[in-house]
Amino acid sequence: MHNLPGFEPPKQIEGQYRPEADVVLYEGDTVDFVSTIPDNSVALIITSPPYNLGKDYETRTSIEQYLEMQTQAIAQLCRILRNDGSLCWQVGNFVENGEVYPLDILYYSIFKKFDLRLRNRIIWRFGHGLHASKRFSGRYETILWFTKSDKYIFNLDPVRVPSKYPGKRHFKGPNRGKPSGNPLGKNPSDIWEVVAQDWEETVWDIPNVKANHPEKTAHPCQYPIELAERCVLALTTEGGWVYDPYAGVGTSLIAAVMHNRRAMGSEKDAAYVATTRQRIQDYFNGTLRRRPVGRPVHQPSGNEKVAQIPEEWKSHGNRVLESP
Ligand SMILES: C[S@@+](CC[C@H](N)C(=O)[O-])C[C@H]1O[C@@H](n2cnc3c(N)ncnc32)[C@H](O)[C@@H]1O
Repeated sequence: MHNLPGFEPPKQIEGQYRPEADVVLYEGDTVDFVSTIPDNSVALIITSPPYNLGKDYETRTSIEQYLEMQTQAIAQLCRILRNDGSLCWQVGNFVENGEVYPLDILYYSIFKKFDLRLRNRIIWRFGHGLHASKRFSGRYETILWFTKSDKYIFNLDPVRVPSKYPGKRHFKGPNRGKPSGNPLGKNPSDIWEVVAQDWEETVWDIPNVKANHPEKTAHPCQYPIELAERCVLALTTEGGWVYDPYAGVGTSLIAAVMHNRRAMGSEKDAAYVATTRQRIQDYFNGTLRRRPVGRPVHQPSGNEKVAQIPEEWKSHGNRVLESP
């Protein structure tokens, strides 16, 4: 269930782990913070770790060194995960000299070393991004969802999506003639488009459309709140700890507080910590800018300037241009 922002008392944001806290936001290194958290205490660890791409917030090293460092952090993360808990690891590719290293494949064996069990490799698909010239343009990243044991929380009902054909009925057997679907909707599957939605498409006529997404901050690699919300709702119950070890601007923490979970994050960059603090406060004040959940994917009508074939291409007789 959604809380109505502005109708609940703001929760205090604490700087250090305390078992009774509601929201903890630590400024500093993840490994230092994790060492303060007891074993088996976190219901969901959800993050998009640094990809070693040399973004403003990371120092690029060799892929081997990067994975070695991440293994040390992962050992600690597995320690603090509850026995019925889940870990969602959202990654894309590391690219060096044009060669692509799929991080989820490289991470998989690390998590297996710690005996985690993969439940889904979720494809998070998005429609837009950089156009590659020497390989096909990348349009998805993945989320590895692992559990610590075979006894884990999975709530399907809060994350069902509307079915395409709710009127479908059983055509044989004892339920013949009865609706075959679920009135609450269908399983969202392991390909998530709903959360990509119009992240980059909000305003079609403005070139840097990303900047127009209501959730966009100065962080270069934010994920949408809805992506984290889906994991929080499906994999935790109210009151459980949700922890983002590489919290960025606090997207996972916001998803957690929105659904009455306790939220923790560690982030080394002071400016992102300040933005997280502000976003959480904005949520409690009812002023957080966010994309409304369930808004349908933007479909261009064909009349937008950017959806039309440029005049100068029309004489090419290219068959690609003739297709819809
Ligand atoms: C991919 S971003 C996460 C973005 C986040 N999902 C969001 O929506 O805002 C990774 C973050 O990890 C932080 N980071 C990298 N190494 C860290 C470390 N050792 N300890 C704490 N934070 C770290 C970076 O500053 C960056 O903000």
